[in-house]
Amino acid sequence: MADSDNKIKIEKIKGFRDHYPEDMEIRHSIFTRITETAEDFGYKRIDFPSLEYLDLYKLKSGSELVNQTFSFVDKGGREVTMIPEATPSTVRLLTARKGMPKPVRWYSFPKVWRYEEPQEGRFREHYQFNADLFGIDSAKVDAEIIGLATSILDSLGLSGIYEININDRYLMEYILKDLNINDINNAFSIIDKYRKISRDSFVEMFRKLDANDENINKIIDFLSEKLDMNSLPKKLKKLLNNYKNIEDRIKRIQETSEYVSYYTQSTINFDFSVVRGLSYYTGIVFEAFDITGKLRAILGGGRYNNLATLLSGEDIPAIGFALGDAVIELLLKRQNLWERNMRKVSYYVCVLNDVNPEYPITIAQKIRKTNKIASLDFTGRKLPAQLKSATDFDYSIIIGNDEIKNNSVTLKNMKTVEQKVLSFDDFIKSL
Ligand code: HAM
Repeated sequence: MADSDNKIKIEKIKGFRDHYPEDMEIRHSIFTRITETAEDFGYKRIDFPSLEYLDLYKLKSGSELVNQTFSFVDKGGREVTMIPEATPSTVRLLTARKGMPKPVRWYSFPKVWRYEEPQEGRFREHYQFNADLFGIDSAKVDAEIIGLATSILDSLGLSGIYEININDRYLMEYILKDLNINDINNAFSIIDKYRKISRDSFVEMFRKLDANDENINKIIDFLSEKLDMNSLPKKLKKLLNNYKNIEDRIKRIQETSEYVSYYTQSTINFDFSVVRGLSYYTGIVFEAFDITGKLRAILGGGRYNNLATLLSGEDIPAIGFALGDAVIELLLKRQNLWERNMRKVSYYVCVLNDVNPEYPITIAQKIRKTNKIASLDFTGRKLPAQLKSATDFDYSIIIGNDEIKNNSVTLKNMKTVEQKVLSFDDFIKSL
């Protein structure tokens, strides 16, 4: 668009974000903390293209996600898409290598794209951390994946600020069939909207699945409250005609939740309204929410035992989750944890009078070796001008001829403006 000065003004596309250096520095340390936690659990990093065949998502991600893709026909006539999630690509990589020794623990941290309505914590492009474990189907493994998710949130200082809500799609399918609702896929997609739509629209949508009002009211009743794991059997005995058939499943959920409590102190609820929007889940599903319930899901995942079979014919049980950068950023900023925990200590090294660079470079390298930031000013400007560039830093260091002669360091705290002279050795010790 041309303005009155005939300049061409091109704005950022709706739903996309820019990140300036002050945020990028913190984002980088948060991303590093997330990936290091996964590596501490023995997960190995993979990566894949940002563009895939659209068919990969048509397989089992569900029509809602397929409708949200940034997809197009490329110059070779292929129907391709910017990846809207990582799970299908991860399974594509896994199944392309036949017979990998199991279990396989993989993580990735791609950008993904979804044409969603931009809102708080939701954009059209975001970074998404994924962790998946292949080859074992057990409560211990389900708990490890949820335990990795909680360890990541706890490592970011979020303990006590979030809760984990768990459900089981197998159990939900059983309950729905027990209530004579057989169009399970559509029922799940209505339940997935339960907290976002009015009661009337919810009832109307279920009536279209031929559910009677008595059963719809039963569904609303069990969707409306979160339970602790111990009260789950009592609730289900009341609701179901045949509880016995599902008893083992309940035991597994209770066991999983107990094992998760070995990883974290955070609250774990049973929540019938968590069914997840993606179609490939077959068992346990879970999401993390901030305890005030005001924000969208922080992370989400579940067991998906059939995706590998669909792609390759090979049966590989799988469970995983993904965590987007957007809600985490919102939450950390709201809790004042963004700056405090994440920024590395930083030093701006002012170099005066054209001194020999060996001494200031040596100091900067010592600082960097302790995992702190050192930025050297070799502009030759006067000290006040150099200090102006240091305002974003925690400390400035002034190196002139006196410091070189005395083997000392003049250190200024940029917040308190306190200034002192230290010997080189004392300064290095102070790091
Ligand atoms: P998902 O629930 O669609 O699951 O997304 C996971 C997380 O990505 C969400 O909880 C949220 O943090 C973030 N997210 C999703 N959409 C947006 C958006 N438009 N803007 C910002 N953040 C967003 C999956 O994608 C599954 N593939 C997860 C998985 C991995 N299941 C098994 N393995």
